Amino acid sequence: MRPAQLIARAAAYLERHGVDSPRATAEILLMHVLGTDRVGLYTRVERLDARQAREFGRALCQRCAGTPVQHLTGEQAFHRLRLEVRPGVFVPRPETEVLVEVALREIREVEAPVVVDVGTGTGAIALAIKRERPDAAVFATDVAPEAVELARVNAARLGLEVDVRQGDLLAPLPDDLRGWVDLVVSNPPYVPEEEYEDLPAEVRADPREALIGGPEVYERLAAEATRWLRDGGVLAVEIHAAAGEAVRSILRRSFADVRVHRDLAGRDRVLTARRP
Ligand SMILES: C[S@@+](CC[C@H](N)C(=O)[O-])C[C@H]1O[C@@H](n2cnc3c(N)ncnc32)[C@H](O)[C@@H]1O
Repeated sequence: MRPAQLIARAAAYLERHGVDSPRATAEILLMHVLGTDRVGLYTRVERLDARQAREFGRALCQRCAGTPVQHLTGEQAFHRLRLEVRPGVFVPRPETEVLVEVALREIREVEAPVVVDVGTGTGAIALAIKRERPDAAVFATDVAPEAVELARVNAARLGLEVDVRQGDLLAPLPDDLRGWVDLVVSNPPYVPEEEYEDLPAEVRADPREALIGGPEVYERLAAEATRWLRDGGVLAVEIHAAAGEAVRSILRRSFADVRVHRDLAGRDRVLTARRP
């Protein structure tokens, strides 16, 4: 069977099992199995060999059973980067690119800015910022050792220098950074506990500790960030779309100029706040 026919059959199978974006998913999985890109996929004339057919069939079944496509391909595109992903570490989401854009705007006028990404996961935000601003000194922290290891792997693969440290929020940073940080950026765990069970299987494939959170994490983050930011430094955080008001009132206690930024769907997505 030619790839185009195979994709059509695979897409129909995925659709019957309620998988989102069935055609795109079938294409991604087949490109992965064949080690090719879109052009290679649609210009291919040979049939799949037995091993490739088995591997493709297995990937389709795993996707139908709720395995995220990124765990099957081992990678995720994020803001002009291709990141390695692994089970056990949060898969970066496209909406977090809004946070990266807002963060980059906040440091546009700052020469050689000092940036800290708290809860870095794969290293997505820290690496995207370092790629756009090679003059920045970028630090990243995560409490999970698996995330720290993967963020370091991604930094090395991409040849981007980011200092990744394990520990709680900003605690692992070198002491001499206190008062010198221009930007603290974070996409912390923010899904309310009561929403967890209703999340789709592929979202629940992310570590629970990377997902579940609420106002408490923003309170701690805000309190710590004020100790590390310079005067006029900025805290930029991603939020749950329904948490804009709650997080805004937390940040207003110790920050000035608190602003909400919306994503492409018009939902509250990012808050920025300036240390007075
Ligand atoms: C929603 S994920 C975001 C990951 C990554 N920044 C991204 O946007 O793809 C939250 C991350 O915060 C980490 N985390 C949770 N609590 C933390 C804490 N107290 N200190 C540091 N990192 C934490 C989790 O391990 C997880 O990697």
